[in-house]
Amino acid sequence: MLFEEYSYFDYQFPEPQYLGAKHTHLAWIQKFIPKDINSALDAFSGSQSVAFLFKQNGFQTITNDFLNFNNQIGLALIENAKEKITQEDLEVLFKTAKNKEDYQLIESVFTGVFFEKEEAEFLDNFRANIPLLNNPYKEALVYSIINRSMTRKITMGHFGHTQALKYASDPERIKRNRSLIRPVKEIFEDLLPKYNNAVFDNKQENQSFNENILDLLPKLDNVDLAYFDPPYCDSHADYQSFYHLLETYTEYWEDKQFINGIKRYEPQRFSGFDKKRDVVDSFEKLFEYSQEIPHWLISYNDRSYPSVEELTKIISKYKDVEVKAKAYRNGRGGKGSVAGSHEVLFVCKPKKKHVINKNQEVQKIHEGL
Ligand SMILES: C[S@@+](CC[C@H](N)C(=O)[O-])C[C@H]1O[C@@H](n2cnc3c(N)ncnc32)[C@H](O)[C@@H]1O
Repeated sequence: MLFEEYSYFDYQFPEPQYLGAKHTHLAWIQKFIPKDINSALDAFSGSQSVAFLFKQNGFQTITNDFLNFNNQIGLALIENAKEKITQEDLEVLFKTAKNKEDYQLIESVFTGVFFEKEEAEFLDNFRANIPLLNNPYKEALVYSIINRSMTRKITMGHFGHTQALKYASDPERIKRNRSLIRPVKEIFEDLLPKYNNAVFDNKQENQSFNENILDLLPKLDNVDLAYFDPPYCDSHADYQSFYHLLETYTEYWEDKQFINGIKRYEPQRFSGFDKKRDVVDSFEKLFEYSQEIPHWLISYNDRSYPSVEELTKIISKYKDVEVKAKAYRNGRGGKGSVAGSHEVLFVCKPKKKHVINKNQEVQKIHEGL
C-alpha cells in the first residue's frame, strides 16, 4: 500500500442506520481482503459501508444496489471524488419552489402516516429544489443526507410500521430520542458536515450502479474481488417494505400504487434474493456469472435459507471456500442478527488445479496467485 493510501482511512464513513449494514464488521472483513488486488465490486451495497472500505483501500471500486436511494449514496460517497454541498446550494434547496404544485406526493400520501402536514410540505418543497443543483453528485449527496435524516426522525429507523406519529407524541420516548420531534431540516443541517467530510478522491475511476446484480455482472470485466452481501432470505430480506419511503422520495413515483397502512409502493422491484422460491436459482446464476472474478467474499447468516452447508456446496462448483464465523453478542440489525446467531463470511479463492506435467507428476498449483 502506498503511503498516500493510508490517509484514506482518515475519512469517516457517516454512520448508517440500515438493516444488515456491515459498518460494525468492517475490521473483521478487512482481514480477509486479498493483498495485491486493484479492483473490487460491492454487489449488494446497501448503505455502501463495504464499498467505502474498498475505496479507502485505494481500489477501483464498483458498487451496486437495485434500490436507487442506496445508489445515490454510492454516487455521493464512492463515485464522487470532490463535489460537496455549499452554503449557496443550501439556499437553493431551502427556498420556496416555483413548481410547488407538481410536488405534493409526500404530503398527499404520507401525512398522518410518518409526518405531520407541515413536515410533509417541507419535504416536497425540498424535493422540488434538488434537481436545481444541476450536478448529479451534489444531488446524490443531498438525497443521501435527507434520506438519512428521515430515518433518524422516524422511530425504529425504518418505515415498515405505523407507530411514527404515536411515538413522536409520547414524552417518555421523546426523552430517550429527541430526533422524534426535531424538524427534518434541523437533522439535515446536523448531518451535512459528516457527509461533506466523507467525500474524497482515491485516484481511481469508481462507479455506482443501480441494477439487479444479475443484469450487471455480465457487463463487468477486470474485477479482482467481488463482495456479496445479499438479503438474508428468511431473516430480514424485505428491504422494500422497510425502506419504501426513501425509494419513493428519491424516485418520486408517479406510476405506483401506495398500499397498506405504511403506504408501500406497488409493484415492487424484483430482487430474486428475498423469496424462498427464487433464492437458490438466483445464487446459482450469481456464481455462474461471477466465475471470472478470482476472489469472492460472501457475507451470510447461519439462520438464513439456504443453509450455510447448502450454499457452500453451490459455491464449491466454482471456488475453494473457507467458512469464517463471528458470534453476535447482542441483537443488532434485525431478526437476522439476534444474539446466538452468527455473522458468516465465505472466503472464496480460485480452485487449486491438479495438473499433470511432462513426467506425469501431479503438481498442485494455485491459479491466479
Ligand atoms: C444485506 S443488505 C447489504 C448491506 C450492505 N452490505 C451494508 O453494509 O449496508 C442487501 C442489499 O441488497 C439489495 N438487493 C436485493 N436484491 C438485489 C438484487 N437483485 N440486485 C442488487 N441489489 C439487491 C438490497 O436493496 C439491500 O440493500
